[in-house]
Amino acid sequence: MQGIEINHLEHRYGRKAALCDVNLRIPPGLYGLLGRNGAGKTTLMRILATLLPCTGGRVTVNGVPLAEAARVRAMVGYLPQDFAAWPRLTVRETLGYFGTLSGMGARDLQKRVPAVLAALHLQAQAGTKVRALSGGMLRRLGVAQAVLHDPPVLIVDEPTAGLDPEERVRLRALLAALAAQGRTVLFSTHIAADIEAVCTGLAVLDAGRVRYAGTVAGLKARTGAKTLEQAYLACVRGGDA
Ligand SMILES: Nc1ncnc2c1ncn2[C@@H]1O[C@H](COP(=O)(O)OP(=O)(O)OP(=O)(O)O)[C@@H](O)[C@H]1O
Ligand SMILES: [Mg+2]
Repeated sequence: MQGIEINHLEHRYGRKAALCDVNLRIPPGLYGLLGRNGAGKTTLMRILATLLPCTGGRVTVNGVPLAEAARVRAMVGYLPQDFAAWPRLTVRETLGYFGTLSGMGARDLQKRVPAVLAALHLQAQAGTKVRALSGGMLRRLGVAQAVLHDPPVLIVDEPTAGLDPEERVRLRALLAALAAQGRTVLFSTHIAADIEAVCTGLAVLDAGRVRYAGTVAGLKARTGAKTLEQAYLACVRGGDA
């Protein structure tokens, strides 16, 4: 099966339960993961990127279980929430460095680096040092390193946080374009409007549990709310009750 299948996933940090019986089917396309601070978004994404062990439950990425970490990593691109790069390297050098670390050869890099610079609208910054990039450009560089090896699955953790409205719109459109090429793109945020604009499917995560999984329209219909923001708040407040 294409996409990500999550069955009965649990995760604990010591005695703290961060994910409780999470079940999700994430098909190809742009899929939003909406949740407030501490909901478990980063924990879930780090497990999917094989950076945290999957100790409870069964998860497959394009049919491959997470236990086959090398195969999964080859299929997954990941933008961490706290993405940072070396300030003195240029954008082009940074991509070369990340690509080399992930095992790409010189010939592959020669082809892929210009392609991702173009896809992320970073051609003009190719020779710019990372320390001179704006927050939005740095985030686009983060997405560029995540898609460098052309993975079919992309996991991006709060890519729009802290960006101005124009950059947020631009980044959302770029993620939608990457998804339209047949990828499964999982995109976390605590801003409902980010998801309403571009995602058809979404999951609401709160206190480690899935409060809703389905379409944007379905969540609005279920709560009777006009906007996704209102529907989301009704959904998580229901969980508090
Ligand atoms: N390394 C850790 N050790 C202990 N507890 C942790 C650790 N990382 C996260 N947690 C806890 O697990 C829960 C989920 O955290 P997580 O970072 O996954 O949430 P999040 O939805 O990404 O939040 P945010 O929107 O703030 O990024 C929180 O209660 C958090 O305090
Ligand atoms: Mg997080």
